[in-house]
Amino acid sequence: MRSYIAAAAFAVLAQAQDLDWDLVSQLTPVPDVTIPVVYATAPATTATATTVSYDGEATAAALSSALVANPSDSAPLDSAIAKRAATTGCQAQPTGVPLGPTGDADTPSNFLAYPAFSSAAAAEAVPSAVPSGYVNTFSNLNASNNAYGYMGYTLLPEYKAQTCADKCTKINGCQAFNIYYERDPSQNPGTGCENPKSTTNIKCVFWSGPVTKDNANNAGQWRNQFQVVIAGSNGYVNQSIATPAGYNAGVYLGKATINAPLDCTGDNSFLQPQVVGNGVFDANLCAVACNQQASYARQHPPADGSFNKMCSFFNTYILYKNGTSLGQYCAMYDQTWSSSYAKNTGYYSGSDHYTIDFSYTFSNSTDGGQPRYPCNVASAKSAIVSASLQPYCSSVLSNGATQTATATNTLATVNANDKSQTTATPSALTKYPASVIASACALATSA
Ligand SMILES: *[C@@H]1O[C@H](CO)[C@@H](O)[C@H](O)[C@H]1NC(C)=O
Ligand SMILES: *[C@@H]1O[C@H](CO)[C@@H](O)[C@H](O)[C@H]1NC(C)=O
Ligand SMILES: *[C@@H]1O[C@H](CO)[C@@H](O)[C@H](O)[C@H]1NC(C)=O
Ligand SMILES: *[C@@H]1O[C@H](CO)[C@@H](O)[C@H](O)[C@H]1NC(C)=O
Repeated sequence: MRSYIAAAAFAVLAQAQDLDWDLVSQLTPVPDVTIPVVYATAPATTATATTVSYDGEATAAALSSALVANPSDSAPLDSAIAKRAATTGCQAQPTGVPLGPTGDADTPSNFLAYPAFSSAAAAEAVPSAVPSGYVNTFSNLNASNNAYGYMGYTLLPEYKAQTCADKCTKINGCQAFNIYYERDPSQNPGTGCENPKSTTNIKCVFWSGPVTKDNANNAGQWRNQFQVVIAGSNGYVNQSIATPAGYNAGVYLGKATINAPLDCTGDNSFLQPQVVGNGVFDANLCAVACNQQASYARQHPPADGSFNKMCSFFNTYILYKNGTSLGQYCAMYDQTWSSSYAKNTGYYSGSDHYTIDFSYTFSNSTDGGQPRYPCNVASAKSAIVSASLQPYCSSVLSNGATQTATATNTLATVNANDKSQTTATPSALTKYPASVIASACALATSA
């Protein structure tokens, strides 16, 4: 059975937002995709374009039932892997565009240095050429991307970012594309044609995760004695991802994740991490996991009556190990944190470097969560404890309901009615309303 989640147990973690190493150790890096341009067996069955379809609803439904069936499912995730088409020796390959070095000049190094490739790449990176809704993330590299969430590719007759963008926009789940020139063999290299003449293909490759300079790490390959190389590689990313139903529009955090402090009451708002998906980045999958946690918590309140922590906010991002994507991570919280807490840009574990990209937060639009009790009560409670005002609190509490209803800064008027002596509000507490002082006193004297 296909597995959609890798999850830590539903138990609340005691620690702040370190990675869950048990969870991370189950993840296998998403394999690199090989994108061949070949006639599979005969020209009639070409493999010069493909798209990977993504059914977000079906994936969300499968994740949801997997979470219901086993909230602590700890199976590793699957990845989509493009299959390389089988080829026969010396089979003629699709002819690309009439560009690139020919004859005696037909060498990998001349291809890399071919001026028309670098000038086209530079021209398509100027702001006026960047397709609307996309940002250009790098230009004119000699490598293509191994990004997260392969969504297919197509060959183009012309090096035009807009043409590639228009195709990406039409593919469900496509958020990024990589366009480049590739030196390909004119015949499938084999016995008798070990190093055939080259042909130039303009490739447009679609991804659901971002294409960056960091993951542009595929500089080609050897096919027999023919060297496939890449030139004029540009990357473009659409950073406006879809908003899950019931959430506010996402806040883009780029390469950083939320590292929330304890809240004002001293509670840890971090609930649990989860890795979701089967190879396509989709924030809705984290929303499904967050909603599921909240609904589970609602049905299973803590037996001791303590604060019931329910997911109302999540931070989702792609986790990379040494530059290779591991999966889509979801960190869930019972409160909303602003982008000013996006301070965590990665981790080291031994010599492995874990990094982050495509980080977004989403907050429940009807209830973004709140601390166990209000922050001004927490602050008044600290003032009481640090100034040892518990005796004053005893008098406040003994006046019970009367003072709670009195919206003044002192208890003098309240006490004056039944006692000759009045109790002035200590200066440390004068800035708080009486109701806040009463709540803070109750907390300060109960513990
Ligand atoms: C790509 O290769 C050309 C030719 O070798 C070289 O001049 C250029 O610096 C390379 N570009 C990068 C980004 O390495
Ligand atoms: C960017 O992605 C969002 C969410 O998938 C989509 O609604 C929007 O149309 C995309 N923009 C472009 C220019 O493709
Ligand atoms: C948002 O929070 C409200 C209140 O807790 C809850 O009823 C609702 O189901 C949540 N929305 C989503 C999408 O989980
Ligand atoms: C990650 O990179 C470090 C430093 O280059 C290296 O020592 C380590 O073996 C790499 N880990 C993996 C899994 O490739």
